[in-house]
Amino acid sequence: MSEDLYKEIILDYYKNPRNYGTLENPDMKAMDTNPLCGDELEMQIKLGESDKIADIRFNGKGCAISMASASILTEMVQGKKIEDARQFNKEELLGAMGTPNLGPVRIKCALLPLKVLKLAIYSHLGKVLEGDDRNL
Ligand code: FES
Repeated sequence: MSEDLYKEIILDYYKNPRNYGTLENPDMKAMDTNPLCGDELEMQIKLGESDKIADIRFNGKGCAISMASASILTEMVQGKKIEDARQFNKEELLGAMGTPNLGPVRIKCALLPLKVLKLAIYSHLGKVLEGDDRNL
């Protein structure tokens, strides 16, 4: 994917965020901060039949990359079973954003939403982050 197309994707999602907002009485939620900039992101999830993600919202503040990443991620996991969402990995997210090659600072921005999603799921399952998820 070209650099221009990547920028277009990020800007489009930043200007028109999908699934931004809050849910009443969510079944799962979590919040975390990007340690490098202090920006905060919260995610809320409602579960439907068969433990599938029926609705998901995020809110908070952050740069274009973190906001676009949260938008893209929430679109990608909507309708998935919790266990499938738990296994969603950073390569899938970075691939959807069009860039696997972000620097060490920007990658924290891009992966913050994934970490928050994982925190919500693990906490719902009564577990702590494990495996690669600990390093998000
Ligand atoms: Fe704060 Fe990107 S600069 S999340």
